[in-house]
Amino acid sequence: MDVTIFGTGYVGLVTGTCLAEVGNRVLCIDIDPDKIELLNNGGVPIYEPGLEEMIHANRAAGRLRFSTDAKAGVEHGLFQFIAVGTPPDEDGSADLQYVLAVARTIAEHMNEYRILVDKSTVPVGTADRVAATVREVLERRGQKIEFDVVSNPEFLKEGAAIEDFMRPDRIIVGTDNPRTAELLRALYAPFNRNHQRFFVMDVRSAELTKYAANAMLATKISFMNELSNIAEAVGADIEKVRIGIGSDPRIGYQFIYPGCGYGGSCFPKDVRALERTANALGYTAELLQAVEAVNLRQKRVLFQKIRDYFGGDLAGRTIALWGLAFKPNTDDMREASSRVLMECLWEAGARVQAYDPVAIKEAQRIYGERADLQFARDALSVLDRADALVLVTEWSEFRSPDFTAIRARLRHPVIFDGRNILDGDQARAAGLTYISIGRTP
Ligand code: UGA
Repeated sequence: MDVTIFGTGYVGLVTGTCLAEVGNRVLCIDIDPDKIELLNNGGVPIYEPGLEEMIHANRAAGRLRFSTDAKAGVEHGLFQFIAVGTPPDEDGSADLQYVLAVARTIAEHMNEYRILVDKSTVPVGTADRVAATVREVLERRGQKIEFDVVSNPEFLKEGAAIEDFMRPDRIIVGTDNPRTAELLRALYAPFNRNHQRFFVMDVRSAELTKYAANAMLATKISFMNELSNIAEAVGADIEKVRIGIGSDPRIGYQFIYPGCGYGGSCFPKDVRALERTANALGYTAELLQAVEAVNLRQKRVLFQKIRDYFGGDLAGRTIALWGLAFKPNTDDMREASSRVLMECLWEAGARVQAYDPVAIKEAQRIYGERADLQFARDALSVLDRADALVLVTEWSEFRSPDFTAIRARLRHPVIFDGRNILDGDQARAAGLTYISIGRTP
């Protein structure tokens, strides 16, 4: 089948590449000529395991192409995926200008039936706005052309996006038109073999499903973070509590890991956007407000622990960070807890030395040259001349470190573990003070 993808960001690239992988002819359109040039020269603008190889193979097979020519894009695909960004407005609602601009572009150039597929995470009601936008342009053009707008939210996790797309646990399609549902069922058939993961529902329920899933997961995390603070207050160990409650299958072990807060491009933005949507309709989403507030507070917990350890004064201290990305296997630092920590440390007059397996370039892009931020090549050299070590991202390579080597390099024998992944007993045996989340030291 012929598929056009508007937007070669994270979602668009993964969607386009995986649809090409199963034999579709995919044309990806972006308004950014530099990005398209990079892709046409074999480069990949984002880091995602397995993506680069898959892009190369499908380009070589002629199934995956990149262009800035929107008109050619509209002519190419029966399916027109909208996978452009929906950055938050000042008040946290999703800004739909890019989504609606693509809708206008499609309407300007379409000459026959097209299916517009909303892949970006968009507020409930967006499909209706996209349809209204297309109708307006078609009317102005004096054209009567049939089209459908479908909500087909993505559920990709950064770092596991290819796997999530190729073996999804659900494919949600929101449409009121049974014929369109069948066309999407055919497009997604290769990803739906041997198991029934294809769910058709009305458009608004599909749109809300996306937010509901992310808000539920964010709620689990904030709940555990809240509990971790209570555990510290009452002298309990949150890790024991986690194991104790996770064994109840109704609660489950997933997404109940306490830490220094959730980040990324999805949870913070989606929780806020859903809260804004509800608010605009006159409903105060108190639980969502609390989920957000608890997370913001949790992102400062490491800083408070470091400050307390050093008696309230961090001026002139050097703090070593393990991890900058918002989670392992990505270079993404959007809303990362590391950023809140570094900014608090700088404000308190401390310097930061950081190491991350892949996100250093991204940190350099965000913060530029500054005297109070240095980067190291590896996990040990980042400790040289540092007063303390703080683990912020749970990369595998940090999981079983040589505590004696750490002890020998640090000026003060102390580790702050923001993800509770280190063995506190081993750390203590090597002469280190081990401070983690939700446990008294
Ligand atoms: C999230 C969802 O997990 C995906 O299902 C969804 O498709 C995606 O958002 C999206 O809307 O596009 P992602 O943001 O890539 O995926 O990352 P997660 O693995 O969910 O992690 C989010 C944050 O929560 C990270 O900062 C992680 O460290 C934190 N986290 C996760 C915890 O603090 N505790 C946990 O138990 C789990």
